[in-house]
Amino acid sequence: MSQLPTIEGILKAEENLTGVTDVTPFQRNLNYSEEYGAKIYFKREDLQIVRSYKIRGAYNLISNLAPSDRKKGVVCASAGNHAQGVAFSCRTLQIKGVIFMPATTPKQKIRAVERLGKDWVEIVLSGDTFDDAKASAQKYVDEHGSVMVPPFNHTLIIEGQGTVAVEIEKQLKKVKPDYVFVPVGGGGLISGITIYLKNKFPNVKIIAVEPEGAPSLKASFDAGQVVTLKEIDNFVDGTAVKEIGELPFQVLKEYGIDGILLVPEGAVCTSILQLYNRDAIVVEPAGALSVAALKFYQEEIKGKNVVCILSGGNNDIERMPDIKERSLLYEGLKHYFMISFPQRSGALKEFVNDILGPDDDITSFTYTKKNNKESGPALVGIELKRKEDYQSLLERMDKYGVKYVSINQNRFLFNLLI
Ligand SMILES: Cc1ncc(COP(=O)(O)O)c(C=O)c1O
Repeated sequence: MSQLPTIEGILKAEENLTGVTDVTPFQRNLNYSEEYGAKIYFKREDLQIVRSYKIRGAYNLISNLAPSDRKKGVVCASAGNHAQGVAFSCRTLQIKGVIFMPATTPKQKIRAVERLGKDWVEIVLSGDTFDDAKASAQKYVDEHGSVMVPPFNHTLIIEGQGTVAVEIEKQLKKVKPDYVFVPVGGGGLISGITIYLKNKFPNVKIIAVEPEGAPSLKASFDAGQVVTLKEIDNFVDGTAVKEIGELPFQVLKEYGIDGILLVPEGAVCTSILQLYNRDAIVVEPAGALSVAALKFYQEEIKGKNVVCILSGGNNDIERMPDIKERSLLYEGLKHYFMISFPQRSGALKEFVNDILGPDDDITSFTYTKKNNKESGPALVGIELKRKEDYQSLLERMDKYGVKYVSINQNRFLFNLLI
């Protein structure tokens, strides 16, 4: 087991990062403060130099390498923010790096790593998944003796990520934080933050926030040891990790954790859209986790000083339609039905006139006329203005004898048809 990270190590990392990373803004957010009757502060790591805090740990580790290790070069496996942090560090420190990414990595992420690393970085696309890329990276290290830069399971990485907390303490000035919400993937960020803030503010409550589809910390805490999840949902890609790091697990066991919250992916989507629409803040799914958590703690946080870490802003604009759809489904505003549609003229007109409410909107309608049948199947998507309108929509369908199946709740049909 590596040496546990320390507050002294975090302060050294802060010195080390001075002039390299940005001191990101710390802002009181009026909209969320009003909504929750609390003082809600955002730590804006989405505005960090590579648009996520991951640069902090990567640079701290790489810049601490002995000259002989620097010559060997560094290696990492990542499809996202860690790769960008490593690439930036390689170029800044003029160290050669090899970055393994799954072949499925979107082009714009590959380009971002190329832009940040320039000639100092070689990108190797390997396998279809992160685990494939990781195995290739390890093989490369075994063969070439280069230095692996892990994304979270390393003392210097955790101490680098802990510098977020050093800035928060300074930026809070005299305010004492009551709650800090932190997104968790492999646990590097929350470990660094916990070590520092629990030392400075013994009464602060630090809440770990994981996506429902990748609860690696919760599963390990429940089991009392690090366990590997069999399957995870990759939607919140920054935190989609099958296994919490051994070192973060030790840190969190030692310092304790005040809550582990699992947030549904749909709620994360709602927060992404809300942050964009209300505050012009662009976050990626992992970057929205801490804000999405507020709703689930609304009673506890009333009147308190609350800090949310907005950990990253590398959102791909092409994901927005999916994000909107997931949010509408989660909020109960979008419904899909398979409807047995009468095959006669005027049937669609009657459906629109009799069944739809004044604010209901058909967003999709797929219908195939069948030969020699009285009715044909129609896949219909309806968007509501208010969640409550759903019940009256069902009542009208029943009243007019519409034969339908709702497919929102049927995961199998939903994934097949939508
Ligand atoms: C934007 C963002 N937030 C949160 C995390 C999770 O951090 P950790 O693995 O340190 O728990 C990551 C990890 O890559 C990330 O990129």
